[in-house]
Amino acid sequence: MMNWDDYHKEEDAPAAASAMAQSGIATSATPATNNITRAAEAMAHIDIAPGLEELEMGAQRVSVDEKAMINCRADLNQLVPFKYDWAWQKYIDGCANHWMPQEINMIADVATWKNPKGLSDDERRIVMRNLGYFSTADSLVANNLVLAIYRLITNPECRQYILRQAFEEAIHTHSYQYCIESLGMDEGEVFNMYREVPSVAKKAAWSISHTHQLSDPNFHTGTPEADQTLLRNLIGFYAVTEGIFFYCGFTQILSMGRRNKMTGVAEQFQYILRDESMHLNFGIDVINQIKLENPHLWTEEFQQEAIEMILEGTQLEIEYARDTMPRGVLGMNAAMMEEYLHFIANRRLSQLGLPEQYPGAQNPFPWMSEIMDLRKEKNFFETRVIEYQTGGALTWD
Ligand SMILES: [Fe+2]
Ligand SMILES: [Fe+2]
Repeated sequence: MMNWDDYHKEEDAPAAASAMAQSGIATSATPATNNITRAAEAMAHIDIAPGLEELEMGAQRVSVDEKAMINCRADLNQLVPFKYDWAWQKYIDGCANHWMPQEINMIADVATWKNPKGLSDDERRIVMRNLGYFSTADSLVANNLVLAIYRLITNPECRQYILRQAFEEAIHTHSYQYCIESLGMDEGEVFNMYREVPSVAKKAAWSISHTHQLSDPNFHTGTPEADQTLLRNLIGFYAVTEGIFFYCGFTQILSMGRRNKMTGVAEQFQYILRDESMHLNFGIDVINQIKLENPHLWTEEFQQEAIEMILEGTQLEIEYARDTMPRGVLGMNAAMMEEYLHFIANRRLSQLGLPEQYPGAQNPFPWMSEIMDLRKEKNFFETRVIEYQTGGALTWD
Protein backbone atom coordinates (compact mmCIF):
# COMPACT_ATOMS: atom_id res chain seq x y z
CA MET A 1 0.00 0.00 0.00
CA MET A 2 1.35 3.48 -0.85
CA ASN A 3 1.73 5.67 2.19
CA TRP A 4 4.21 8.51 2.62
CA ASP A 5 4.79 7.46 6.24
CA ASP A 6 6.36 4.30 4.89
CA TYR A 7 8.67 6.18 2.54
CA HIS A 8 10.04 9.19 4.35
CA LYS A 9 12.42 7.21 6.55
CA GLU A 10 15.94 7.72 5.22
CA GLU A 11 16.76 4.03 4.82
CA ASP A 12 13.67 3.53 2.67
CA ALA A 13 14.43 6.45 0.37
CA PRO A 14 15.68 4.47 -2.67
CA ALA A 15 12.72 2.06 -2.46
CA ALA A 16 10.40 5.05 -2.12
CA ALA A 17 11.85 6.77 -5.17
CA SER A 18 11.45 3.63 -7.22
CA ALA A 19 7.85 3.07 -6.07
CA MET A 20 7.00 6.70 -6.81
CA ALA A 21 8.57 6.51 -10.25
CA GLN A 22 6.48 3.42 -11.00
CA SER A 23 3.34 5.18 -9.89
CA GLY A 24 4.01 8.25 -12.02
CA ILE A 25 4.79 10.68 -9.18
CA ALA A 26 7.50 13.17 -10.20
CA THR A 27 10.69 12.61 -8.20
CA SER A 28 13.09 15.02 -9.92
CA ALA A 29 12.99 18.75 -10.68
CA THR A 30 12.36 18.48 -14.40
CA PRO A 31 9.20 16.34 -14.41
CA ALA A 32 7.89 18.34 -11.42
CA THR A 33 8.42 21.60 -13.28
CA ASN A 34 6.63 20.14 -16.27
CA ASN A 35 3.73 19.16 -14.04
CA ILE A 36 3.51 22.71 -12.68
CA THR A 37 3.58 24.16 -16.19
CA ARG A 38 0.84 21.78 -17.28
CA ALA A 39 -1.25 22.70 -14.22
CA ALA A 40 -0.80 26.42 -14.94
CA GLU A 41 -1.87 25.88 -18.56
CA ALA A 42 -4.95 24.00 -17.39
CA MET A 43 -5.80 26.76 -14.88
CA ALA A 44 -5.66 29.37 -17.62
CA HIS A 45 -8.77 27.81 -19.15
CA ILE A 46 -10.78 27.92 -15.91
CA ASP A 47 -12.59 31.09 -14.91
CA ILE A 48 -11.15 32.51 -11.72
CA ALA A 49 -13.36 32.09 -8.66
CA PRO A 50 -14.60 35.32 -7.02
CA GLY A 51 -11.92 36.50 -4.59
CA LEU A 52 -8.99 35.16 -6.58
CA GLU A 53 -8.82 37.87 -9.25
CA GLU A 54 -5.54 39.71 -9.79
CA LEU A 55 -5.03 42.68 -7.49
CA GLU A 56 -6.12 45.93 -9.05
CA MET A 57 -3.77 48.51 -7.53
CA GLY A 58 -5.42 51.71 -6.32
CA ALA A 59 -8.94 50.36 -6.88
CA GLN A 60 -11.74 51.92 -4.84
CA ARG A 61 -12.25 50.78 -1.27
CA VAL A 62 -15.28 48.53 -0.70
CA SER A 63 -18.43 50.23 0.60
CA VAL A 64 -21.24 48.40 2.40
CA ASP A 65 -23.66 49.13 -0.43
CA GLU A 66 -21.54 47.18 -2.91
CA LYS A 67 -21.69 43.98 -0.89
CA ALA A 68 -24.14 41.30 -1.98
CA MET A 69 -24.83 37.63 -1.21
CA ILE A 70 -24.40 36.41 -4.79
CA ASN A 71 -22.89 37.80 -8.00
CA CYS A 72 -21.04 40.52 -6.07
CA ARG A 73 -18.32 42.39 -7.94
CA ALA A 74 -16.72 44.09 -4.91
CA ASP A 75 -13.37 42.81 -3.52
CA LEU A 76 -14.12 39.68 -1.48
CA ASN A 77 -10.82 39.79 0.40
CA GLN A 78 -11.99 42.76 2.51
CA LEU A 79 -13.98 41.40 5.43
CA VAL A 80 -15.01 44.85 6.65
CA PRO A 81 -17.06 47.00 6.55
CA PHE A 82 -19.64 44.43 7.66
CA LYS A 83 -22.97 44.31 5.93
CA TYR A 84 -24.46 41.08 7.30
CA ASP A 85 -23.94 41.32 11.06
CA TRP A 86 -25.97 38.13 11.57
CA ALA A 87 -23.34 36.14 9.65
CA TRP A 88 -20.41 37.60 11.60
CA GLN A 89 -22.24 37.04 14.92
CA LYS A 90 -22.79 33.37 14.04
CA TYR A 91 -19.09 33.02 13.28
CA ILE A 92 -18.28 34.48 16.74
CA ASP A 93 -20.91 32.28 18.45
CA GLY A 94 -19.72 29.16 16.60
CA CYS A 95 -16.13 29.76 17.75
CA ALA A 96 -17.28 30.31 21.36
CA ASN A 97 -19.00 26.88 21.26
CA HIS A 98 -15.83 25.02 20.32
CA TRP A 99 -15.60 21.43 21.55
CA MET A 100 -13.74 18.22 20.69
CA PRO A 101 -15.06 14.64 20.76
CA GLN A 102 -12.26 13.25 22.95
CA GLU A 103 -13.36 15.51 25.81
CA ILE A 104 -16.42 13.30 26.34
CA ASN A 105 -16.13 10.24 28.54
CA MET A 106 -17.19 7.08 26.70
CA ILE A 107 -16.34 4.49 29.37
CA ALA A 108 -19.93 3.79 30.45
CA ASP A 109 -21.02 3.50 26.81
CA VAL A 110 -18.33 0.92 26.05
CA ALA A 111 -19.46 -1.16 29.06
CA THR A 112 -23.13 -0.92 28.01
CA TRP A 113 -22.39 -1.73 24.37
CA LYS A 114 -20.21 -4.75 25.19
CA ASN A 115 -22.66 -6.14 27.77
CA PRO A 116 -25.06 -8.48 25.91
CA LYS A 117 -27.84 -7.30 28.23
CA GLY A 118 -26.83 -3.63 28.10
CA LEU A 119 -29.27 -2.68 25.34
CA SER A 120 -32.21 -4.31 23.58
CA ASP A 121 -31.87 -5.30 19.91
CA ASP A 122 -34.09 -2.36 18.92
CA GLU A 123 -31.89 0.05 20.87
CA ARG A 124 -28.75 -1.37 19.21
CA ARG A 125 -30.37 -0.93 15.82
CA ILE A 126 -30.95 2.75 16.59
CA VAL A 127 -27.33 3.32 17.63
CA MET A 128 -25.94 1.47 14.58
CA ARG A 129 -28.25 3.04 12.00
CA ASN A 130 -27.69 6.56 13.28
CA LEU A 131 -23.91 6.24 13.39
CA GLY A 132 -24.26 4.77 9.89
CA TYR A 133 -26.25 7.71 8.55
CA PHE A 134 -24.37 10.49 10.32
CA SER A 135 -20.82 9.17 9.83
CA THR A 136 -21.07 9.99 6.11
CA ALA A 137 -23.81 12.68 6.13
CA ASP A 138 -21.52 15.28 7.66
CA SER A 139 -18.92 14.60 4.95
CA LEU A 140 -21.61 15.21 2.33
CA VAL A 141 -22.44 18.52 3.99
CA ALA A 142 -18.76 19.52 4.30
CA ASN A 143 -18.07 18.64 0.67
CA ASN A 144 -21.07 20.64 -0.45
CA LEU A 145 -19.87 23.66 1.54
CA VAL A 146 -16.30 23.61 0.33
CA LEU A 147 -16.64 22.19 -3.18
CA ALA A 148 -19.97 23.69 -4.22
CA ILE A 149 -21.35 26.73 -2.41
CA TYR A 150 -18.30 28.50 -0.94
CA ARG A 151 -17.17 30.12 -4.20
CA LEU A 152 -20.75 31.06 -5.16
CA ILE A 153 -21.57 32.96 -1.96
CA THR A 154 -19.85 36.24 -2.74
CA ASN A 155 -19.72 37.79 0.70
CA PRO A 156 -16.70 37.61 3.03
CA GLU A 157 -18.55 37.55 6.37
CA CYS A 158 -20.75 34.67 5.13
CA ARG A 159 -17.64 32.90 3.83
CA GLN A 160 -16.06 33.33 7.25
CA TYR A 161 -18.99 31.47 8.83
CA ILE A 162 -18.96 28.82 6.08
CA LEU A 163 -15.30 28.10 6.90
CA ARG A 164 -16.19 27.78 10.59
CA GLN A 165 -19.11 25.51 9.70
CA ALA A 166 -16.86 23.38 7.49
CA PHE A 167 -14.50 22.83 10.45
CA GLU A 168 -17.47 21.96 12.68
CA GLU A 169 -18.57 19.36 10.11
CA ALA A 170 -15.06 17.87 10.32
CA ILE A 171 -15.43 17.72 14.13
CA HIS A 172 -18.81 16.01 13.72
CA THR A 173 -17.37 13.37 11.40
CA HIS A 174 -14.53 12.95 13.92
CA SER A 175 -17.11 12.55 16.69
CA TYR A 176 -18.96 9.75 14.87
CA GLN A 177 -15.66 8.04 14.05
CA TYR A 178 -14.68 8.35 17.73
CA CYS A 179 -17.96 6.71 18.84
CA ILE A 180 -17.57 3.92 16.26
CA GLU A 181 -13.98 3.26 17.32
CA SER A 182 -14.70 3.46 21.07
CA LEU A 183 -17.55 0.95 20.79
CA GLY A 184 -15.45 -1.38 18.62
CA MET A 185 -17.97 -1.43 15.79
CA ASP A 186 -17.24 -2.81 12.32
CA GLU A 187 -16.10 0.42 10.65
CA GLY A 188 -16.63 -0.90 7.12
CA GLU A 189 -20.21 -1.81 7.91
CA VAL A 190 -21.03 1.54 9.52
CA PHE A 191 -19.31 3.80 6.97
CA ASN A 192 -20.90 1.90 4.07
CA MET A 193 -24.49 2.06 5.28
CA TYR A 194 -25.06 5.09 3.07
CA ARG A 195 -24.57 2.74 0.13
CA GLU A 196 -25.95 -0.47 1.55
CA VAL A 197 -28.94 0.26 3.80
CA PRO A 198 -31.87 1.62 1.72
CA SER A 199 -33.36 4.01 4.30
CA VAL A 200 -29.91 5.58 4.85
CA ALA A 201 -28.89 5.47 1.18
CA LYS A 202 -32.05 7.24 -0.03
CA LYS A 203 -31.39 10.24 2.19
CA ALA A 204 -27.71 10.40 1.19
CA ALA A 205 -28.57 10.10 -2.52
CA TRP A 206 -31.18 12.86 -2.22
CA SER A 207 -28.59 15.23 -0.69
CA ILE A 208 -25.88 14.34 -3.22
CA SER A 209 -28.28 14.95 -6.12
CA HIS A 210 -28.36 18.61 -5.09
CA THR A 211 -24.56 18.99 -5.13
CA HIS A 212 -23.73 17.71 -8.62
CA GLN A 213 -24.49 20.76 -10.74
CA LEU A 214 -22.79 23.23 -8.41
CA SER A 215 -19.61 21.25 -7.89
CA ASP A 216 -18.90 21.50 -11.62
CA PRO A 217 -16.12 24.16 -11.86
CA ASN A 218 -17.83 25.49 -14.99
CA PHE A 219 -21.03 26.25 -13.09
CA HIS A 220 -21.51 29.99 -12.53
CA THR A 221 -24.30 32.05 -11.07
CA GLY A 222 -25.51 35.20 -12.82
CA THR A 223 -28.57 34.02 -14.71
CA PRO A 224 -31.96 33.53 -13.02
CA GLU A 225 -31.79 29.79 -13.81
CA ALA A 226 -28.31 29.36 -12.32
CA ASP A 227 -29.16 31.50 -9.28
CA GLN A 228 -32.23 29.33 -8.68
CA THR A 229 -30.02 26.23 -8.90
CA LEU A 230 -27.90 27.68 -6.08
CA LEU A 231 -31.06 28.38 -4.04
CA ARG A 232 -32.22 24.80 -4.61
CA ASN A 233 -28.89 23.56 -3.25
CA LEU A 234 -29.15 25.80 -0.18
CA ILE A 235 -32.69 24.60 0.53
CA GLY A 236 -31.63 20.99 -0.09
CA PHE A 237 -28.71 21.17 2.33
CA TYR A 238 -29.66 23.68 5.01
CA ALA A 239 -33.44 23.25 5.24
CA VAL A 240 -33.76 19.55 4.34
CA THR A 241 -30.46 17.73 5.05
CA GLU A 242 -29.48 19.65 8.19
CA GLY A 243 -33.01 20.80 9.00
CA ILE A 244 -35.03 17.56 8.58
CA PHE A 245 -32.77 14.55 7.90
CA PHE A 246 -30.95 14.97 11.22
CA TYR A 247 -33.99 15.15 13.44
CA CYS A 248 -35.18 11.54 13.75
CA GLY A 249 -31.65 10.41 14.67
CA PHE A 250 -31.00 13.25 17.09
CA THR A 251 -34.32 12.61 18.84
CA GLN A 252 -33.68 8.86 19.15
CA ILE A 253 -30.14 9.19 20.52
CA LEU A 254 -31.02 12.00 22.90
CA SER A 255 -34.01 10.00 24.13
CA MET A 256 -31.58 7.19 24.91
CA GLY A 257 -29.40 9.60 26.89
CA ARG A 258 -32.43 10.83 28.84
CA ARG A 259 -32.94 7.21 29.92
CA ASN A 260 -29.34 7.05 31.09
CA LYS A 261 -28.22 4.77 28.27
CA MET A 262 -25.25 5.50 25.97
CA THR A 263 -24.83 8.89 27.65
CA GLY A 264 -21.43 9.51 26.00
CA VAL A 265 -22.81 9.02 22.50
CA ALA A 266 -25.84 11.11 23.50
CA GLU A 267 -23.61 13.89 24.77
CA GLN A 268 -21.66 13.88 21.49
CA PHE A 269 -24.98 14.18 19.62
CA GLN A 270 -26.08 16.98 21.91
CA TYR A 271 -23.02 19.07 21.09
CA ILE A 272 -23.56 18.33 17.42
CA LEU A 273 -27.23 19.33 17.64
CA ARG A 274 -26.20 22.67 19.14
CA ASP A 275 -23.85 23.29 16.20
CA GLU A 276 -26.44 22.07 13.70
CA SER A 277 -29.12 24.44 15.03
CA MET A 278 -26.77 27.28 14.18
CA HIS A 279 -25.94 25.86 10.73
CA LEU A 280 -29.65 25.62 10.01
CA ASN A 281 -30.34 29.17 11.17
CA PHE A 282 -27.41 30.51 9.16
CA GLY A 283 -28.68 28.72 6.05
CA ILE A 284 -32.20 30.09 6.51
CA ASP A 285 -30.76 33.61 6.88
CA VAL A 286 -28.66 33.13 3.72
CA ILE A 287 -31.66 31.93 1.70
CA ASN A 288 -33.90 34.74 2.96
CA GLN A 289 -31.22 37.37 2.31
CA ILE A 290 -30.75 36.11 -1.27
CA LYS A 291 -34.54 36.26 -1.72
CA LEU A 292 -34.58 39.81 -0.42
CA GLU A 293 -31.86 40.94 -2.80
CA ASN A 294 -33.18 38.95 -5.77
CA PRO A 295 -36.99 38.85 -5.53
CA HIS A 296 -37.25 37.80 -9.18
CA LEU A 297 -35.87 34.36 -8.23
CA TRP A 298 -38.67 33.63 -5.75
CA THR A 299 -41.38 32.96 -8.33
CA GLU A 300 -44.65 31.13 -7.62
CA GLU A 301 -43.26 28.17 -9.53
CA PHE A 302 -40.01 28.16 -7.57
CA GLN A 303 -41.87 28.42 -4.26
CA GLN A 304 -43.91 25.37 -5.25
CA GLU A 305 -40.67 23.54 -6.03
CA ALA A 306 -39.23 24.48 -2.63
CA ILE A 307 -42.37 23.14 -0.92
CA GLU A 308 -42.03 19.89 -2.88
CA MET A 309 -38.42 19.54 -1.74
CA ILE A 310 -39.44 19.92 1.92
CA LEU A 311 -42.23 17.35 1.44
CA GLU A 312 -39.88 14.88 -0.26
CA GLY A 313 -37.32 15.26 2.51
CA THR A 314 -39.99 14.80 5.18
CA GLN A 315 -41.21 11.60 3.50
CA LEU A 316 -37.68 10.16 3.34
CA GLU A 317 -37.17 10.95 7.03
CA ILE A 318 -40.48 9.27 7.90
CA GLU A 319 -39.31 6.15 6.03
CA TYR A 320 -36.06 6.32 7.99
CA ALA A 321 -38.06 6.54 11.25
CA ARG A 322 -40.07 3.43 10.29
CA ASP A 323 -36.92 1.51 9.38
CA THR A 324 -35.07 2.47 12.56
CA MET A 325 -38.12 1.86 14.81
CA PRO A 326 -40.01 -1.19 13.59
CA ARG A 327 -41.58 -1.28 17.10
CA GLY A 328 -42.05 1.16 19.93
CA VAL A 329 -38.76 1.85 21.71
CA LEU A 330 -37.45 4.40 24.24
CA GLY A 331 -40.95 5.78 24.82
CA MET A 332 -41.43 6.63 21.15
CA ASN A 333 -42.57 4.99 17.93
CA ALA A 334 -42.61 5.70 14.19
CA ALA A 335 -46.09 7.30 14.29
CA MET A 336 -44.98 9.80 16.97
CA MET A 337 -41.86 10.55 14.93
CA GLU A 338 -44.02 11.15 11.85
CA GLU A 339 -46.03 13.73 13.79
CA TYR A 340 -42.79 15.34 15.00
CA LEU A 341 -41.39 15.48 11.45
CA HIS A 342 -44.60 17.13 10.22
CA PHE A 343 -44.13 19.70 12.99
CA ILE A 344 -40.46 20.22 11.98
CA ALA A 345 -41.37 20.50 8.27
CA ASN A 346 -43.98 23.17 9.06
CA ARG A 347 -41.31 25.07 10.95
CA ARG A 348 -38.87 24.91 8.00
CA LEU A 349 -41.58 26.04 5.58
CA SER A 350 -42.54 29.03 7.71
CA GLN A 351 -38.87 29.95 8.24
CA LEU A 352 -38.61 30.20 4.45
CA GLY A 353 -41.82 32.22 4.20
CA LEU A 354 -43.76 29.30 2.69
CA PRO A 355 -47.20 28.01 3.79
CA GLU A 356 -47.28 25.14 6.30
CA GLN A 357 -48.29 21.83 4.71
CA TYR A 358 -49.29 19.83 7.79
CA PRO A 359 -52.03 21.82 9.52
CA GLY A 360 -52.20 21.35 13.26
CA ALA A 361 -49.11 19.14 13.57
CA GLN A 362 -47.98 19.10 17.21
CA ASN A 363 -44.61 18.45 18.81
CA PRO A 364 -44.76 15.14 20.71
CA PHE A 365 -41.22 15.67 22.01
CA PRO A 366 -41.23 19.08 23.69
CA TRP A 367 -38.02 18.13 25.53
CA MET A 368 -36.20 18.37 22.18
CA SER A 369 -37.00 22.08 22.03
CA GLU A 370 -35.82 22.44 25.60
CA ILE A 371 -32.48 20.88 24.67
CA MET A 372 -32.07 23.21 21.71
CA ASP A 373 -33.04 26.31 23.68
CA LEU A 374 -30.97 25.20 26.65
CA ARG A 375 -29.40 27.84 28.77
CA LYS A 376 -25.71 27.90 28.12
CA GLU A 377 -24.26 27.15 31.55
CA LYS A 378 -24.93 23.43 31.69
CA ASN A 379 -25.52 20.67 29.22
CA PHE A 380 -28.56 18.45 29.31
CA PHE A 381 -26.97 15.64 31.29
CA GLU A 382 -25.35 18.16 33.58
CA THR A 383 -21.99 16.47 33.35
CA ARG A 384 -20.01 19.55 32.49
CA VAL A 385 -20.20 23.17 31.55
CA ILE A 386 -20.65 23.36 27.79
CA GLU A 387 -20.09 27.02 27.12
CA TYR A 388 -16.41 27.69 27.43
CA GLN A 389 -13.48 29.31 25.77
CA THR A 390 -10.49 27.24 24.77
CA GLY A 391 -6.94 28.32 25.44
CA GLY A 392 -5.78 31.22 27.57
CA ALA A 393 -4.83 34.76 26.68
CA LEU A 394 -1.26 35.25 25.49
CA THR A 395 1.03 37.20 27.74
CA TRP A 396 4.28 38.71 26.58
CA ASP A 397 6.15 39.22 29.81
FE1 LIG B 1 -22.63 18.43 11.15
FE1 LIG C 1 -24.08 21.03 9.84
